[in-house]
Amino acid sequence: MRAALLVTVVGLVGCAGELEQPERFADCAPGYVEQIFSTRCGDCHGSDEPMAGLDLVSAGVSDRLVGVQSASACDGRTLIDPMSTNHLLLTKLDGSFDCGAAMPLGPTKLSDTDVECVRRWIDEVVAVSP
Ligand code: HEC
Repeated sequence: MRAALLVTVVGLVGCAGELEQPERFADCAPGYVEQIFSTRCGDCHGSDEPMAGLDLVSAGVSDRLVGVQSASACDGRTLIDPMSTNHLLLTKLDGSFDCGAAMPLGPTKLSDTDVECVRRWIDEVVAVSP
């Protein structure tokens, strides 16, 4: 009996260890990314004099991102580039940025799962953008 239990536990642990990229299984509910923008970015990127001129909270946020060039430290880069997968917005969240600062500015980064949700959201807004 005890042996059987042990086998079960080892089996479960082994399985969890194989999930090397748990964010691939992220469950991103509709509206979740807008919620991240509001709660994690809104202090600095709200509608009232936002940092870098970027309002991430008011309605129609994708219009202020898709095809829009950096107004800050990243001259010539596009916040969401519909022609490539190299989006300045995403590089600032996943740590691969090469200009300006990581976002959200401050000590607490987004979780891998949240970054994955933003990546999927970008794919969606690119797909529907004119
Ligand atoms: C504590 C304030 C603060 C928070 C919180 C914050 N930002 Fe920023 N953000 C800034 C500042 C300051 C800049 C300008 C510096 C730079 O471009 O790196 C900036 C710049 C940016 C830029 C570049 C804009 C451009 O035109 O180049 C993006 C994209 C961005 N933030 C996204 C985010 C996102 C997404 C979040 C939330 C996950 C976030 N920020 C949270 C302060 C903040």
